[in-house]
Amino acid sequence: MQQRLLQHLSLFHFLVLAVDPSVPETGRRGAAVPPSHRFDCGAERLLAREGCEARGCCYAPAASGAGGGPPRCFFPPAATAATGPRAACASRCLRDPARQRYEVPLATPRVSARAASTLYGVQVREDPFGLVVSRWPGGQVLLNTTVAPLFFADQFLQISTSLPSRFISGLGEHLAPLVLDTAWTKVTLWNRDMAPVPQVNLYGSHPFYLVIEDGGSAHGVFLLNSNAMDVVLQPSPALTWRTTGGILDFYVFLGPDPKSVVRQYLDVVGFPFMPPYWGLGFHLCRWGYSSTTTTRQAVANMSAARFPLDVQWNDLDYMDAKRDFTFNKETFKDYPDMVRDFHQRGLRYVMIVDPGISSSGPPGTYKPYDDGLKRGVFIRNATGQPLIGKVWPGPTAFPDFTNPETHEWWHDMVKDFHDRVPFDGMWIDMNEPSNFVEGSQDGCPNNSLEKPPYVPGVFGGRLQAGTICASSQQYLSSHYNLHSLYGLTEAIASHDALVRIRGKRPFVISRSTFAGHGRYAGHWTGDVESNWEQLSYSVPEVLLFNLFGVPLVGADICGFLGDTSEELCVRWTQLGAFYPFMRNHNDHGNRPQEPYAFSPAAQDAMRKALRLRYSLLPYLYTLFHRAHAAGETVARPLFLEFPKDPNTWTVDRQLLWGGGLLVTPVLEAGQTKVSGYFPAGTWYSLVGVGAATGLPGAATPFLRPIPPGKGQWILLPAPLDTINVHVRAGHILPLQEPAFSTAESRKKGMALVVALTPDGFARGELFWDDGESWQSFEKGDYTETLFLAAHVSVGGGCLGTALQPPAVTILGVTSPPRQVLANGARVDDFSYRSDTQVLSVPVSLPMWEQFVITWS
Ligand code: NOJ
Repeated sequence: MQQRLLQHLSLFHFLVLAVDPSVPETGRRGAAVPPSHRFDCGAERLLAREGCEARGCCYAPAASGAGGGPPRCFFPPAATAATGPRAACASRCLRDPARQRYEVPLATPRVSARAASTLYGVQVREDPFGLVVSRWPGGQVLLNTTVAPLFFADQFLQISTSLPSRFISGLGEHLAPLVLDTAWTKVTLWNRDMAPVPQVNLYGSHPFYLVIEDGGSAHGVFLLNSNAMDVVLQPSPALTWRTTGGILDFYVFLGPDPKSVVRQYLDVVGFPFMPPYWGLGFHLCRWGYSSTTTTRQAVANMSAARFPLDVQWNDLDYMDAKRDFTFNKETFKDYPDMVRDFHQRGLRYVMIVDPGISSSGPPGTYKPYDDGLKRGVFIRNATGQPLIGKVWPGPTAFPDFTNPETHEWWHDMVKDFHDRVPFDGMWIDMNEPSNFVEGSQDGCPNNSLEKPPYVPGVFGGRLQAGTICASSQQYLSSHYNLHSLYGLTEAIASHDALVRIRGKRPFVISRSTFAGHGRYAGHWTGDVESNWEQLSYSVPEVLLFNLFGVPLVGADICGFLGDTSEELCVRWTQLGAFYPFMRNHNDHGNRPQEPYAFSPAAQDAMRKALRLRYSLLPYLYTLFHRAHAAGETVARPLFLEFPKDPNTWTVDRQLLWGGGLLVTPVLEAGQTKVSGYFPAGTWYSLVGVGAATGLPGAATPFLRPIPPGKGQWILLPAPLDTINVHVRAGHILPLQEPAFSTAESRKKGMALVVALTPDGFARGELFWDDGESWQSFEKGDYTETLFLAAHVSVGGGCLGTALQPPAVTILGVTSPPRQVLANGARVDDFSYRSDTQVLSVPVSLPMWEQFVITWS
């Protein structure tokens, strides 16, 4: 606990700006700054030599400018910065106490600075001005903002820091590797409806990064600021935050290990919500299930082809004229009955809801708009009228979810619809918010919010591109300040509405996100193309969202845009079986990509992956509980578990589930082998456990123990029907016999896989409750079971279900047992294989009592 140190550095009061025309030409000093160490002195305007030097900065014309290489106009060496650019415009730029600046309305804990700490030191330096945070003991500098002057103007705030290493991760949402490139990468944050491509601002904003230092310690930094911003990474290595408003409200997380950094970050933005158990099953969706008949048919096909399915979805197709909270009375005339029928079969149902509310019908014909107008819930334009843009239904108004009245109105609309159609969860899309006209139907006013002095590298070049006017007015502030919070605030309203209406744990999946989103909802990664590149990018996306505290995340399995191929779809389904949120979703007009749409061999492979996931759901659910209760991650990068092994730091083609399961997917076409990194320790192939545990899979050989103290890359066989999954020695995984839905599988017997370390230890746990009650953990309505294996015994207990054959599989039993006892009674039909060192104990044991299995 003493390591849970956060240092909240509010820089609100430190205001300096860098213009002093009296400072002489600085070319000579500029030559002393190597290109990798240059910090941009003129980012807010393109300066020629004269203007640059008039600022007291250095000019080197060969360089190409921020984001694409070293800047042309840059600050003189840090040591002389105080005598170079200085606070010459304090009267213009310092804070006017009468004028409140915008701050992000996120309820974060206010942490007061500690007087003394043995773990870190903070220095405020005056000349050159800045802050230096270092780790003790050792004195490693984690943050040093004296490397370049601080700018603090109304719409332009810039602060730079050195970084202690190049291993920096975070700053989503982007299509990018897990570890960012520090060779002049510009990361732009401004939520945007944009099919994922590299180097472009996408649907979400998470101004948080994590750096792994030499030796494997880690720290993190969170800038709580929601304005459009750029973050520039440079090779020295260093980082510059450049934002267009708000305040510089920094949180620095000292770790010292990467897991602690994530937990400390989540201490600030909130631990993830606990999803319902059914939310972890398989979800099926497409744009183009054009009627209840086709939707019902999809469900029937899944069941006829013996695929598990937990949740059926509909896209816009169900709506009447694409308007929220309506349904088509012809094609979806039996819609409520369809949903009830799904419930009868143990399935759940989720449909899309967009934020844009159709505004074009005659008054009195569309309640969401009529009521919304009366209750004043829409975002307003410069004249105080609802701003009208254009989305799927045509002209639309945009609810302002920062207004408490809007939450009430949204609840009422959701409830009205739920009274008619008893859906189980909400899919909130288009909430960046997306707009098909720029700004509004009437354009945008000409003012400094629409055209700020500095426009970050947003796609489209203007803040209004693909969204509404920046100067439109919301309840809490201008859209300029609140834009990137739109999806988060809609997610909060939807989450709260569902709790009130259903009285159960809510299920909300959102496209747009901001820091803190995971408290309320999950995320899917938007309109990914059906290609191999996007398949492989989905691994770092899922890992990053886990670092951001949004563990319920996944990409559209088989891809969304364009036709998929059979091989791609098989590989994507295999990887998708290890997305925390597993949904196959397809664009309209594309070839079908439901699992049943492929050849028998492909179907077999997909079935196997799905059964594997369903077998592992008790383990996955327990990981979600740990995320919810303790700020852990569900899918995690290897560096989180093995920070001392530098080989793990950049691995983003594999993922872990918790600490105990390593997934090595095939991410390329035509491959039947895959290379994976296995950190030091013993890893057991779960594929090989198949026969013994009732899990799918043939009895392929287990991976032999890897020599202690050494990790290694291993080339694994990966035929098209196989995804490599390995259990880490020292872990016990709770499993359950798979079925065609979680409603069924939850009634089946449980099993344990016990992966012993060479000295015979393993540990695991299971969190179990009814799977959907609201706050069951908070109310104490759950069972938590601890499993321990020590040398020759494994035990656990206290759960209202039973271990049933095949019950306990113990991996790493080095010599054949002569006798096995379960709670003291002889077990005669145990089996042991000396080639694989697997002991199988097929007992029936009630888990509501403590149990002990011993072998000797
Ligand atoms: C955009 C979403 O990203 C996509 O998933 C959805 O199918 C379409 N909107 C249509 O609603």
